[in-house]
Amino acid sequence: MHFRQILSSVALLAVGASAAPQNKRDVETNVTIYAWGTGLSGLPVFAGTDGIAYMAASPPANLSALTWDIDITGTAPWNVTMAENSTSSSVNTTNSRSFFIVSSSDAYAPCGFVPKNGSMPEGGQTAGFIKWGSDVMVKNGSTYTSQFWAQSTSDEGIWSLMWNSDGSSQDNAIPVLLKTTAPVDTTS
Ligand SMILES: *[C@@H]1O[C@H](CO)[C@@H](O)[C@H](O)[C@H]1NC(C)=O
Ligand SMILES: *[C@@H]1O[C@H](CO)[C@@H](O)[C@H](O)[C@H]1NC(C)=O
Ligand SMILES: *[C@@H]1O[C@H](CO)[C@@H](O)[C@H](O)[C@H]1NC(C)=O
Ligand SMILES: *[C@@H]1O[C@H](CO)[C@@H](O)[C@H](O)[C@H]1NC(C)=O
Ligand SMILES: *[C@@H]1O[C@H](CO)[C@@H](O)[C@H](O)[C@H]1NC(C)=O
Ligand SMILES: *[C@@H]1O[C@H](CO)[C@@H](O)[C@H](O)[C@H]1NC(C)=O
Ligand SMILES: *[C@@H]1O[C@H](CO)[C@@H](O)[C@H](O)[C@H]1NC(C)=O
Repeated sequence: MHFRQILSSVALLAVGASAAPQNKRDVETNVTIYAWGTGLSGLPVFAGTDGIAYMAASPPANLSALTWDIDITGTAPWNVTMAENSTSSSVNTTNSRSFFIVSSSDAYAPCGFVPKNGSMPEGGQTAGFIKWGSDVMVKNGSTYTSQFWAQSTSDEGIWSLMWNSDGSSQDNAIPVLLKTTAPVDTTS
Protein backbone atom coordinates (compact mmCIF):
# COMPACT_ATOMS: atom_id res chain seq x y z
CA MET A 1 0.00 0.00 0.00
CA HIS A 2 1.22 3.43 -0.82
CA PHE A 3 0.11 6.42 1.17
CA ARG A 4 0.88 9.86 -0.06
CA GLN A 5 -0.56 13.27 0.60
CA ILE A 6 0.29 15.91 -1.91
CA LEU A 7 -1.23 19.32 -2.23
CA SER A 8 -0.88 21.37 -5.36
CA SER A 9 1.10 24.54 -4.88
CA VAL A 10 -1.71 26.48 -6.58
CA ALA A 11 -3.87 25.98 -3.54
CA LEU A 12 -1.07 27.30 -1.37
CA LEU A 13 -0.28 30.53 -3.17
CA ALA A 14 -1.97 32.47 -0.41
CA VAL A 15 0.56 31.06 2.04
CA GLY A 16 3.62 31.20 -0.19
CA ALA A 17 3.04 34.71 -1.47
CA SER A 18 3.80 36.31 1.87
CA ALA A 19 7.13 34.57 2.30
CA ALA A 20 9.37 37.49 3.14
CA PRO A 21 12.33 36.04 5.08
CA GLN A 22 11.94 36.06 8.85
CA ASN A 23 8.72 38.05 8.63
CA LYS A 24 7.51 38.21 12.22
CA ARG A 25 3.90 37.45 11.42
CA ASP A 26 4.96 34.23 9.70
CA VAL A 27 6.37 32.90 12.97
CA GLU A 28 4.22 31.28 15.63
CA THR A 29 5.75 30.68 19.05
CA ASN A 30 4.90 28.39 21.95
CA VAL A 31 3.30 25.83 19.65
CA THR A 32 2.69 22.18 20.56
CA ILE A 33 2.62 19.59 17.79
CA TYR A 34 0.50 16.46 17.90
CA ALA A 35 0.47 13.30 15.79
CA TRP A 36 -2.90 12.08 14.53
CA GLY A 37 -3.56 8.72 12.92
CA THR A 38 -5.47 5.49 13.39
CA GLY A 39 -5.13 4.80 17.12
CA LEU A 40 -3.13 7.98 17.74
CA SER A 41 -5.64 10.65 18.66
CA GLY A 42 -3.36 13.62 18.94
CA LEU A 43 -0.33 12.41 20.86
CA PRO A 44 2.17 15.19 21.61
CA VAL A 45 5.63 14.98 20.04
CA PHE A 46 8.50 14.66 22.53
CA ALA A 47 12.29 14.54 22.18
CA GLY A 48 14.26 11.59 23.50
CA THR A 49 17.68 11.87 25.08
CA ASP A 50 18.89 10.43 21.77
CA GLY A 51 17.61 13.50 19.87
CA ILE A 52 14.87 11.50 18.16
CA ALA A 53 11.18 12.46 18.03
CA TYR A 54 8.71 10.25 19.92
CA MET A 55 4.98 10.22 20.63
CA ALA A 56 3.43 8.80 23.79
CA ALA A 57 0.19 9.12 25.70
CA SER A 58 1.95 8.44 29.00
CA PRO A 59 5.52 9.58 28.36
CA PRO A 60 8.37 8.30 30.54
CA ALA A 61 10.55 10.93 32.24
CA ASN A 62 13.35 10.51 29.71
CA LEU A 63 11.23 12.13 27.01
CA SER A 64 11.29 15.93 27.03
CA ALA A 65 8.21 18.03 26.43
CA LEU A 66 8.70 20.50 23.58
CA THR A 67 7.80 24.08 22.83
CA TRP A 68 7.98 24.89 19.13
CA ASP A 69 8.69 28.10 17.23
CA ILE A 70 7.44 27.56 13.69
CA ASP A 71 7.65 29.56 10.48
CA ILE A 72 4.39 28.76 8.71
CA THR A 73 5.80 29.68 5.28
CA GLY A 74 8.73 27.26 5.33
CA THR A 75 11.39 29.96 5.18
CA ALA A 76 13.14 29.31 8.50
CA PRO A 77 13.83 26.05 10.34
CA TRP A 78 11.38 25.01 13.04
CA ASN A 79 12.98 25.18 16.47
CA VAL A 80 12.17 23.53 19.75
CA THR A 81 13.16 24.18 23.32
CA MET A 82 13.17 21.07 25.46
CA ALA A 83 11.81 20.78 28.96
CA GLU A 84 13.86 18.85 31.50
CA ASN A 85 11.50 15.90 31.24
CA SER A 86 8.05 14.92 30.04
CA THR A 87 6.10 16.51 32.87
CA SER A 88 8.11 19.67 33.48
CA SER A 89 6.83 22.79 31.77
CA SER A 90 9.96 24.85 32.41
CA VAL A 91 11.96 24.89 29.21
CA ASN A 92 15.70 25.20 28.91
CA THR A 93 15.94 28.11 26.50
CA THR A 94 19.65 27.57 25.94
CA ASN A 95 18.87 24.09 24.64
CA SER A 96 17.25 25.09 21.35
CA ARG A 97 17.30 22.62 18.50
CA SER A 98 15.94 22.47 14.96
CA PHE A 99 13.52 19.81 13.73
CA PHE A 100 14.78 17.62 10.89
CA ILE A 101 13.58 14.87 8.60
CA VAL A 102 15.69 12.56 6.46
CA SER A 103 14.18 13.10 3.03
CA SER A 104 16.45 11.31 0.58
CA SER A 105 14.41 9.18 -1.80
CA ASP A 106 13.45 5.78 -0.34
CA ALA A 107 14.53 6.89 3.14
CA TYR A 108 12.53 5.53 6.06
CA ALA A 109 14.27 7.17 8.98
CA PRO A 110 13.56 8.80 12.35
CA CYS A 111 12.79 12.50 12.55
CA GLY A 112 14.63 14.38 15.26
CA PHE A 113 16.11 17.56 16.64
CA VAL A 114 19.59 18.77 15.80
CA PRO A 115 21.50 21.17 18.09
CA LYS A 116 22.34 24.52 16.47
CA ASN A 117 25.95 23.50 15.84
CA GLY A 118 25.30 19.78 15.64
CA SER A 119 25.25 17.57 12.56
CA MET A 120 22.30 15.78 11.03
CA PRO A 121 22.17 12.29 9.57
CA GLU A 122 22.99 12.13 5.86
CA GLY A 123 20.06 13.33 3.78
CA GLY A 124 18.65 15.39 6.65
CA GLN A 125 16.86 18.68 6.09
CA THR A 126 15.67 21.39 8.51
CA ALA A 127 14.17 23.65 5.86
CA GLY A 128 10.82 23.63 4.11
CA PHE A 129 8.29 22.91 6.86
CA ILE A 130 5.02 24.77 6.41
CA LYS A 131 1.73 24.94 8.22
CA TRP A 132 -1.32 24.42 6.02
CA GLY A 133 -4.47 24.98 8.04
CA SER A 134 -3.38 23.16 11.17
CA ASP A 135 -1.41 20.50 9.27
CA VAL A 136 2.38 20.27 9.07
CA MET A 137 3.56 19.73 5.49
CA VAL A 138 6.95 19.68 3.80
CA LYS A 139 7.63 21.80 0.75
CA ASN A 140 9.26 19.93 -2.11
CA GLY A 141 9.62 22.03 -5.20
CA SER A 142 6.09 22.96 -6.17
CA THR A 143 4.37 20.30 -4.07
CA TYR A 144 3.64 19.89 -0.39
CA THR A 145 3.84 16.46 1.15
CA SER A 146 3.23 14.71 4.43
CA GLN A 147 5.00 11.38 4.77
CA PHE A 148 5.15 11.22 8.56
CA TRP A 149 4.71 7.77 10.07
CA ALA A 150 4.53 6.48 13.63
CA GLN A 151 6.70 3.40 14.23
CA SER A 152 6.00 1.34 17.32
CA THR A 153 9.00 0.81 19.61
CA SER A 154 9.90 -1.95 22.05
CA ASP A 155 8.45 0.26 24.79
CA GLU A 156 4.69 -0.25 24.92
CA GLY A 157 2.75 2.88 23.97
CA ILE A 158 5.79 4.78 22.69
CA TRP A 159 6.06 5.53 18.99
CA SER A 160 8.96 7.05 17.11
CA LEU A 161 8.23 9.62 14.44
CA MET A 162 9.51 8.66 11.00
CA TRP A 163 9.67 10.21 7.53
CA ASN A 164 8.71 7.67 4.88
CA SER A 165 9.93 9.23 1.63
CA ASP A 166 8.20 6.91 -0.80
CA GLY A 167 5.22 6.05 1.42
CA SER A 168 5.90 2.33 1.19
CA SER A 169 4.29 -0.08 3.64
CA GLN A 170 6.22 -0.56 6.92
CA ASP A 171 5.91 -3.18 9.65
CA ASN A 172 4.28 -2.04 12.91
CA ALA A 173 3.92 1.50 11.63
CA ILE A 174 1.09 3.72 10.46
CA PRO A 175 0.85 7.02 8.61
CA VAL A 176 0.17 10.04 10.80
CA LEU A 177 -0.54 13.68 10.22
CA LEU A 178 1.22 16.25 12.37
CA LYS A 179 -1.07 19.02 13.51
CA THR A 180 -0.99 22.02 15.80
CA THR A 181 -4.44 21.00 17.02
CA ALA A 182 -4.70 19.54 20.52
CA PRO A 183 -7.12 16.73 21.29
CA VAL A 184 -10.25 17.78 23.14
CA ASP A 185 -9.74 17.12 26.84
CA THR A 186 -12.60 14.85 27.89
CA THR A 187 -11.35 14.40 31.47
CA SER A 188 -12.24 17.88 32.66
C1 LIG B 1 2.57 28.48 26.20
O1 LIG B 1 1.42 27.65 26.07
C2 LIG B 1 1.02 27.04 27.30
C3 LIG B 1 -0.11 26.08 26.98
O2 LIG B 1 -0.94 26.55 25.97
C4 LIG B 1 0.62 28.11 28.29
O3 LIG B 1 0.25 27.52 29.51
C5 LIG B 1 1.82 29.04 28.52
O4 LIG B 1 1.45 30.10 29.37
C6 LIG B 1 2.34 29.61 27.19
N1 LIG B 1 3.58 30.32 27.43
C7 LIG B 1 3.86 31.46 26.84
C8 LIG B 1 5.19 32.07 27.19
O5 LIG B 1 3.08 32.03 26.09
C1 LIG C 1 13.69 5.84 28.05
O1 LIG C 1 13.64 4.93 29.14
C2 LIG C 1 13.10 3.66 28.77
C3 LIG C 1 12.96 2.86 30.03
O2 LIG C 1 12.06 3.49 30.87
C4 LIG C 1 14.04 3.00 27.76
O3 LIG C 1 13.53 1.75 27.37
C5 LIG C 1 14.14 3.90 26.54
O4 LIG C 1 15.10 3.37 25.63
C6 LIG C 1 14.58 5.31 26.93
N1 LIG C 1 14.45 6.15 25.76
C7 LIG C 1 15.35 7.05 25.41
C8 LIG C 1 15.09 7.81 24.17
O5 LIG C 1 16.37 7.23 26.05
C1 LIG D 1 15.32 28.82 14.26
O1 LIG D 1 16.67 29.05 14.54
C2 LIG D 1 17.41 29.55 13.44
C3 LIG D 1 18.86 29.61 13.84
O2 LIG D 1 19.05 30.11 15.12
C4 LIG D 1 16.84 30.91 13.06
O3 LIG D 1 17.54 31.43 11.94
C5 LIG D 1 15.37 30.75 12.70
O4 LIG D 1 14.78 32.01 12.43
C6 LIG D 1 14.60 30.09 13.84
N1 LIG D 1 13.24 29.76 13.40
C7 LIG D 1 12.13 30.27 13.95
C8 LIG D 1 10.83 29.79 13.41
O5 LIG D 1 12.16 31.11 14.84
C1 LIG E 1 10.94 16.79 35.95
O1 LIG E 1 11.60 18.06 36.04
C2 LIG E 1 11.14 18.84 37.12
C3 LIG E 1 11.91 20.16 37.10
O2 LIG E 1 11.73 20.81 35.90
C4 LIG E 1 11.45 18.11 38.43
O3 LIG E 1 10.92 18.87 39.51
C5 LIG E 1 10.79 16.73 38.41
O4 LIG E 1 11.19 16.02 39.56
C6 LIG E 1 11.23 15.96 37.18
N1 LIG E 1 10.50 14.70 37.14
C7 LIG E 1 11.10 13.53 36.91
C8 LIG E 1 10.20 12.33 36.87
O5 LIG E 1 12.31 13.44 36.72
C1 LIG F 1 20.36 23.57 29.23
O1 LIG F 1 20.87 23.15 27.98
C2 LIG F 1 22.27 23.37 27.86
C3 LIG F 1 22.66 23.03 26.43
O2 LIG F 1 22.25 21.74 26.08
C4 LIG F 1 22.99 22.53 28.90
O3 LIG F 1 24.38 22.76 28.81
C5 LIG F 1 22.50 22.91 30.31
O4 LIG F 1 23.07 22.05 31.25
C6 LIG F 1 20.98 22.81 30.37
N1 LIG F 1 20.52 23.34 31.65
C7 LIG F 1 19.65 22.69 32.41
C8 LIG F 1 19.21 23.37 33.65
O5 LIG F 1 19.23 21.56 32.11
C1 LIG G 1 11.30 15.53 -3.04
O1 LIG G 1 11.17 14.91 -4.30
C2 LIG G 1 12.28 14.12 -4.66
C3 LIG G 1 12.07 13.63 -6.09
O2 LIG G 1 10.82 13.06 -6.23
C4 LIG G 1 12.40 12.96 -3.67
O3 LIG G 1 13.54 12.19 -3.98
C5 LIG G 1 12.56 13.53 -2.28
O4 LIG G 1 12.55 12.46 -1.34
C6 LIG G 1 11.41 14.47 -1.96
N1 LIG G 1 11.63 15.14 -0.68
C7 LIG G 1 10.66 15.27 0.23
C8 LIG G 1 10.99 16.08 1.43
O5 LIG G 1 9.57 14.77 0.09
C1 LIG H 1 28.13 24.20 20.32
O1 LIG H 1 28.65 25.51 20.51
C2 LIG H 1 28.78 25.88 21.88
C3 LIG H 1 29.23 27.31 21.96
O2 LIG H 1 29.27 27.95 20.74
C4 LIG H 1 29.76 24.94 22.57
O3 LIG H 1 29.83 25.26 23.94
C5 LIG H 1 29.28 23.51 22.41
O4 LIG H 1 30.22 22.62 22.96
C6 LIG H 1 29.05 23.15 20.95
N1 LIG H 1 28.44 21.84 20.89
C7 LIG H 1 28.85 20.92 20.03
C8 LIG H 1 28.10 19.63 20.04
O5 LIG H 1 29.78 21.11 19.25
